Amino acid sequence: MTAQLNARGDVAVLVPAAGAGLRLGPGGPKALRLLAGEPLLVHAIRRIAAAGSVRAIVVAAPAGEVEAVQELLAPVAPVTVVAGGAERQESVSLALAAVPAGVGIVLVHDAARALTPPQLIESVAAAVRAGHPAVIPVLPVVDTIKEVGPGAAGPADSGPPLEVVLGTVDRAVLRSVQTPQGFRYDVLAAAHAAAADPLTDDAGLVEKAGVPVTCVPGSELAMKITRPLDLILAEALLHVS
Ligand code: CTP
Ligand code: MG
Repeated sequence: MTAQLNARGDVAVLVPAAGAGLRLGPGGPKALRLLAGEPLLVHAIRRIAAAGSVRAIVVAAPAGEVEAVQELLAPVAPVTVVAGGAERQESVSLALAAVPAGVGIVLVHDAARALTPPQLIESVAAAVRAGHPAVIPVLPVVDTIKEVGPGAAGPADSGPPLEVVLGTVDRAVLRSVQTPQGFRYDVLAAAHAAAADPLTDDAGLVEKAGVPVTCVPGSELAMKITRPLDLILAEALLHVS
């Protein structure tokens, strides 16, 4: 059944889905790869459409797949599909240009985080609505993190030099960052208009513009499907999401 969006909602969700999925291995664009028989993008859109304040969804699809993605998503939810770009940031900019007038809050959400619960989408949107111009979901870092640099070259026949540790970063002040990342529309539009170098997240652009970025608790279910092992984990998580 096709989901309805909330015509009175104040949120547009941009879904960058134009990546190649190289780290997942051969098998086509990641957003169209199957998880329990359905493309990751379908899993993602269904959960976005279930978030009560979403009024519009704009998907940035792989350039050659715009029509196929329109057909794929038509039975799932009303979405606008645009062609994405060569970098994630470009895909987000292209999707941003298709946001309908009058939307106050824009969320940017990776198709690759296909199991993100609607509640997380709502909690990010609520924090923006409460007055925070930029909001990201975060989790504590579980591994110990080391800063490394190139080591001294070994004997000529021993392969490339191994890295050496330069220092240990205090894990207590680190967070791993997920999506959806939420912004006041004008804040994200200005950050993208001013962007120079491509970054892997939108909050990074906004930080560069000097805007405070606020953290809300993330969700294990919002894990990013990046490598083959993640698909196996996602399949297991489907039973609890
Ligand atoms: N993305 C995009 N346009 C790009 C690159 C990435 O819309 N030019 C999207 C991906 O489709 C994904 C999200 O950005 O939903 C996060 O990117 P990532 O996990 O790196 O996905 P891919 O770029 O597809 O994977 P890889 O880097 O392994 O090729
Ligand atoms: Mg990528």
